[in-house]
Amino acid sequence: MKARMIAIDGPAASGKSTLAQNLASALDYLYFDTGVMYRAVTLATLKSDTLVKDEVAVTAIANELDLDVQPPSNDDGRQCDVLMNGKDVTWEIRSPAVDENVSQVSMYPGVRQAMTVRQREIGLRGAVVMVGRDIGTVVLPEAELKIYLDASVEARANRRYEESLQRGNPVEYDVILKRMRERDRLDSTRTLAPLRPADDAVILDSTKLSIHDVFEKALALVEDVTQQGEA
Ligand code: DC
Repeated sequence: MKARMIAIDGPAASGKSTLAQNLASALDYLYFDTGVMYRAVTLATLKSDTLVKDEVAVTAIANELDLDVQPPSNDDGRQCDVLMNGKDVTWEIRSPAVDENVSQVSMYPGVRQAMTVRQREIGLRGAVVMVGRDIGTVVLPEAELKIYLDASVEARANRRYEESLQRGNPVEYDVILKRMRERDRLDSTRTLAPLRPADDAVILDSTKLSIHDVFEKALALVEDVTQQGEA
C-alpha cells in the first residue's frame, strides 16, 4: 500500500510547505496548504471592515467565502494561486495584517467547522499531501503517514526574515520573532484543534537540516509506509 494521504503539521515556518510541495511533486500528488483558507477568511474579514473579534460576523464570512486554490499561474515564487471571489489574493494573504489576525480567526469553532469540512472532502479523494496544524489530529486522522515538522522559533523567525528580504519588503527580525512566539502560543493553546502532533505522527526537527535532508527523510518515511503495506 502506498500512502495515499500524507498529513504534514507543525508551527509556522518549520518548512512544512516546502516539504509538502517537494513530496507532492515527487509522488505526483496534490499539494494542499490548508493555512491559505484561514488566511483568506482573515483577509476577507479585514477587507469588509468587520471586527476580527466579532465571532458571529467572521463565521458568516467563512461560510459564504468563494475560495479557490489552483496550480500556480506564474513563477513569482508562489506555490499555488489563491482566488477569493475570483480575485488573485496569493500575496495579499501573506501580509503582516493577516499574519497578526489569522490565529484569532482560526480559533472560532464555526470557522474551523466550515474549513474542516472543505478540507476533508479534498483530502479523502487521496493522492494528497496536506499541510496545516490539525491535519493528522482532526482533518484527516486516517492519513497513512503523519509528519510533525518542528524547528526552533529562532530558526523559523530567521527563515521568515530572509523571505521578507527576498520579497523586497524587509521586516525587522525581532518583530518577526515576537509575532511568531505569540502565534505559536495562540495556535497551541486554543481549545479546539490546537497545534500538536498526532499520537502516531513522526516528529522531524528541521532546525539543523537542509531542505534536501528533510525531503530525503520524509521520502524514506513514505517508503516505510509502502513496505509495511506490502508486508
Ligand atoms: O501555515 P500558515 O502560517 O499559513 O497558517 C496560518 C494560520 O492558520 C495559523 O496561525 C494557524 C491557522 N491554521 C490552522 O489553525 N489550522 C490549519 N489546518 C492551518 C492553519
